[in-house]
Amino acid sequence: MKKTVRDIDVSGKKVLVRCDFNVPMQDGKITDDRRITAALPTIEYLIEQNAKVILMSHMGRPKGEPKPEFSLQPVADRLSELLKQDVVFAKSPVVVDDSVKAAAEALAPGQVMLLENVRYRAEETKNQEPFTGQLASLGDVFVNDAFGTAHRAHCSTAGIASYLPSVSGFLIEKEVKFLGDALEDPARPFIAIMGGAKVGDKIPVMENIIGKVDALMIGGGMSYTFFKAMGFEIGTSILDEESLDMARDIMKKAEDAGVEFLLPVDTVCAKEFNNDSPQIVCDRDKIPADIMGMDIGPKTVELYTKKLAEAKTIVWNGPAGVFEMPNFAAGTKAIAQALADGDAVTVIGGGDSAAAVEQFGLADKMTHISTGGGASLEFLEGKELPGIACLEDK
Ligand code: 3PG
Repeated sequence: MKKTVRDIDVSGKKVLVRCDFNVPMQDGKITDDRRITAALPTIEYLIEQNAKVILMSHMGRPKGEPKPEFSLQPVADRLSELLKQDVVFAKSPVVVDDSVKAAAEALAPGQVMLLENVRYRAEETKNQEPFTGQLASLGDVFVNDAFGTAHRAHCSTAGIASYLPSVSGFLIEKEVKFLGDALEDPARPFIAIMGGAKVGDKIPVMENIIGKVDALMIGGGMSYTFFKAMGFEIGTSILDEESLDMARDIMKKAEDAGVEFLLPVDTVCAKEFNNDSPQIVCDRDKIPADIMGMDIGPKTVELYTKKLAEAKTIVWNGPAGVFEMPNFAAGTKAIAQALADGDAVTVIGGGDSAAAVEQFGLADKMTHISTGGGASLEFLEGKELPGIACLEDK
């Protein structure tokens, strides 16, 4: 167990908080502020405790250069609205300079300041000096609350912990609790749903959870690689050729472990990869040569939703089909609805599955939606995340 902000005295101290404010933007506007609202409990707590709050984050991948389209200014503006207080934006192309240091020194207890995008500095993603030391010089304490970036060993997520007392914020605490409890102490039956395009990306997760789940349910583009591995023709469906052996291996491991391995029994196909291409439903062993799978079929939906209704813990990572296209979203939507209707603890990995439940208006029916895409995947793989490993133990 890691120490959290509750375990240390922050009153009057300059507290450097790493958040993941890497939010989607369009035309300079934030299109989804969930990662900002998810950071509020820690920030509000620090304000109440009279800390001087210095926030830091990355945005996108500006590759070590100050590119204005990756500025955190819009995040500072949104934070000011959400906190109902002015957030000082330290607008420096080098993130830390004398004026930023002076602004940090001038903070009053309860005031909040946001640094510019830490990836404006080339050292950040290499976890190199002098940037780590410069960041650390701004504060007395380090709080990591950037779960979405906890799988990166960067200056602002891990390196800084060698300079300052370091604890976790409430978001990291919550993510670790829900993801960790699901893996280590699940109410049973425990079902994991795996989707997405490439089997290769999900193999390490499947290997880690096969010993923990009662059933593994497969959907999405990766299903076709499994079909191929079973000897079926898959038409023009996506195939992760390099992972065919691994797919066979996973099926064998599941069988040996006594884990029920569920694959779609039918699929909704189309000739072209676009929403208006007419839908053709076929059984998994009868996919014609000139069409591709786009979604799980109606028989699979029935099979999967029945099974999910019996579950007491469900972890979902990866959509069941091309849910971004309304005509091929039915399978993913049915799964989201089954999770919403049941009484299982439901933990949604970040990225696409989180976007799907949001799109279907079912987000508030889930027990926990992770704010981390890559980070939640690595957590489910059983890996130690450097942004968490560097924090002090209780
Ligand atoms: C994410 O969106 O997954 C995190 O913010 C990490 O971003 P990165 O993949 O650019 O490191």
